[in-house]
Amino acid sequence: MKLSHSLLIGLVAASTCLFTGTSMAAETDEQTDILLLISRSGCLNCHDLTPQAAKATGSMPFGPPYVEVAKRYKDDPKAFDMLLTTVKNGSNPYKSHWKDKVSGIAMPPMVTVTEENAKRLLTWILSLDEKSAAAAEAQLAGQKIPTITNKTEDEKEILLLISHSGCLNCHDLTRQTAAKESNPMPFGPPYVEVAKRYKDDPKAFEMLLNTVKNGSNPYKSHWKDKVSGIAMPPMVTVTEENAKRLLTWILSLDDEKASHAEMVLAGKEKP
Ligand code: HEC
Ligand code: HEC
Repeated sequence: MKLSHSLLIGLVAASTCLFTGTSMAAETDEQTDILLLISRSGCLNCHDLTPQAAKATGSMPFGPPYVEVAKRYKDDPKAFDMLLTTVKNGSNPYKSHWKDKVSGIAMPPMVTVTEENAKRLLTWILSLDEKSAAAAEAQLAGQKIPTITNKTEDEKEILLLISHSGCLNCHDLTRQTAAKESNPMPFGPPYVEVAKRYKDDPKAFEMLLNTVKNGSNPYKSHWKDKVSGIAMPPMVTVTEENAKRLLTWILSLDDEKASHAEMVLAGKEKP
């Protein structure tokens, strides 16, 4: 996707002032980049960087905190390939490596993460130590997705949610971005077109909710010859509540609202 990450970068930048003086600008940019990737990839739905958050609530973490993953595998030359397979295919629920240390039973296959990005993430995770993990966690605290405060969705909240949920890896809000690139066909249907198609269909919401949860049927595409993607994978990291929030917003889009949100995402307009 060609959409810039400026919205998230802006939000992250707001919290980087915590670190001025402790790290150089270049390092901060690189860290911001990897934090965007890790949050867009859905990893942070189940993992923290350090054990602190879980300790604070007196509960077990769902997935192992990444700094503990680093401690465990840092000096094991075979670990990288094993972990890469786990990110791609999920972990074996009958052979947990973190038994009695985490409350999650297994990790699902992270189907929306490319091999290249999985490698970047793992390289970074394995490089963590207490200090760098704590600094990165503090930076992340500045860009947590807020819960709904009003009945009507705040544009900034929903754009954070949609990008954290990984949807924007395959979807744009309007057709503009795809049209500008060499391939005129978008990968997934632009959301404003999803809205136009289903807005007045009272049965659509449940069907779409099911698609977000379980993926679309590759043999029964609803967008044949209009998109280049063959099917949508099950979005396993998106809770039902958040899937409903996203769909309600997507179905509420019209040309004007979608273009505005797309400009905000591209960093060209203030939220
Ligand atoms: C739905 C929850 C969930 C999501 C999303 C998730 N994980 Fe995990 N992850 C887990 C659980 C649970 C474990 C512990 C598995 C075990 O017990 O062996 C785990 C374990 C791991 C491990 C250690 C594996 C081992 O064999 O010790 C790594 C590395 C990891 N996850 C990386 C990632 C990355 C990178 C992402 C994002 C691309 C991600 N995870 C997304 C739940 C999740
Ligand atoms: C890996 C790429 C990918 C990701 C990630 C993805 N989608 Fe899709 N999505 C697609 C494709 C391809 C289609 C077209 C399916 C078809 O042809 O019926 C689609 C279709 C849809 C549709 C229309 C379904 C229909 O029956 O008309 C909705 C709504 C949708 N996606 C929402 C989402 C949401 C919300 C997210 C994030 C939580 C998301 N998608 C993430 C690729 C993706």
